[in-house]
Amino acid sequence: MNWNRREFLGLAAGAALAQDKPLRVGFIGVGNRGTGLLRTTLSLGTIEVPAVCDINEAHLERALGMVEKAGRKRPESYGLRGVDDWKRLVERDDLDAIVNAGPWELHTPMSVATMKSGKYAATEVPAATTIEECWELVRVSEETGKPCMMLENVCYFRNALMVLNLIRQGVLGEVIHCEGGYQHDVRGAFIARPGRGTPGEITWRGMHAATKNGNIYPTHPIGPIGWWLDINRGDRFTYMTSMSSKSRGLRHYVEKRHGKDHHNAKRDYAMGDVNVSLIRSENGATVTLYHDTVLPRPYDLILRVQGTEGIYSGTLDKIYLEDRSPKPHEWEDPEAYYKQYEHPLWRDLEQKARQHGHGGADYITLHQFYKAVRQGTQTPIDVYDTAVWSAIMPLSIQSVAQRSAPVDFPDFTRGNWKTRPPVPITGA
Ligand SMILES: NC(=O)c1ccc[n+]([C@@H]2O[C@H](COP(=O)([O-])OP(=O)(O)OC[C@H]3O[C@@H](n4cnc5c(N)ncnc54)[C@H](O)[C@@H]3O)[C@@H](O)[C@H]2O)c1
Repeated sequence: MNWNRREFLGLAAGAALAQDKPLRVGFIGVGNRGTGLLRTTLSLGTIEVPAVCDINEAHLERALGMVEKAGRKRPESYGLRGVDDWKRLVERDDLDAIVNAGPWELHTPMSVATMKSGKYAATEVPAATTIEECWELVRVSEETGKPCMMLENVCYFRNALMVLNLIRQGVLGEVIHCEGGYQHDVRGAFIARPGRGTPGEITWRGMHAATKNGNIYPTHPIGPIGWWLDINRGDRFTYMTSMSSKSRGLRHYVEKRHGKDHHNAKRDYAMGDVNVSLIRSENGATVTLYHDTVLPRPYDLILRVQGTEGIYSGTLDKIYLEDRSPKPHEWEDPEAYYKQYEHPLWRDLEQKARQHGHGGADYITLHQFYKAVRQGTQTPIDVYDTAVWSAIMPLSIQSVAQRSAPVDFPDFTRGNWKTRPPVPITGA
């Protein structure tokens, strides 16, 4: 039975937890991101964190201390017995869900083990790095009846959700084209900085850039765009093509900071500095996707959507609607639209969310995950979203390696995209 039928029958994940019973959540990987997710989790009310895992003792200690400081029992710790110690945490029978925020290549094994042990899986982005892993996530979620939600927080950005509402209410007309990008100077996450490893050495994340050529981080922009286009829910991505520029950024960065003779200023980096991909959907919508992370630049996810009635630009945070904007061919300030079309989640949660990461989106993302765990329902970002958004990394790499030849998307829903309902627009 696939998820379509499960959702229909309301059997998604077994019995709902009593509303007043605390949720019990385990954490694996409490580095930079995992610590932020843990902090937000601890502010979300009746959630206990009985177990935390990290192979880095300082990170582990910091997390245990945070839980205690928040007035909860000191969690049991895992990780110091080695890189597979997380498996002991997953085997515990007193957890409802596990959040994993370790390196990319561990996301699928951890999520798969979590679902197989009967728990809800939440994973950081990307959930998978190969097409086989994407399929494994889908298969195991269907077999176990346990959801796997990639914590794609950009889906919950205020503008992304307002645009989803605009689209749903027909204000932008039929959506024709979207543009997004992970345009974020993360050289400091690829090459270690003082205080975070040996300065000048390549980090685990940087090793992906050193060895893979393509869009290696597509999920932030494609998450909201996937929802805008009803991907897996009325439409689906059919094929894409991808092209990478030459590679200069990381070498140049190391050279400037550590000198021409540093071994990392002399090595080759596989990843082209700017990658551009084009995606086409079954219903004829197109998407341009950028990956631009190793050159100096301000952060910009683009998040632009063009419909038959008008256009919204996230870069500008401006809108233009043919029969509504005051002046023809001129952008309009979106404030009035935020008032009228604010997504109900933002209406309900903004006050509490604002002090949390990514303008509040991190809070809303976790809020929605834990709500599904509590109610025993499907997660709003489901395993099909998780798989198809993650699949873009390996597909892009494949296309780049073949002189930008088009590559097909697998249909992870096995045809069910035609009838699956769109993401619901509901409040908290
Ligand atoms: N959604 C977002 O906005 C966002 C932001 C930053 C990072 N991320 C993602 O979060 C993830 C983590 O990134 P980060 O910046 O926190 O990296 P990090 O290196 O700071 O943290 C990773 C942690 O995992 C631990 N770890 C590694 N191997 C382990 C193992 N076998 N068992 C247990 N723990 C292990 C490390 O010791 C470290 O503490 C990545 O997938 C990254 O892409 C997402």
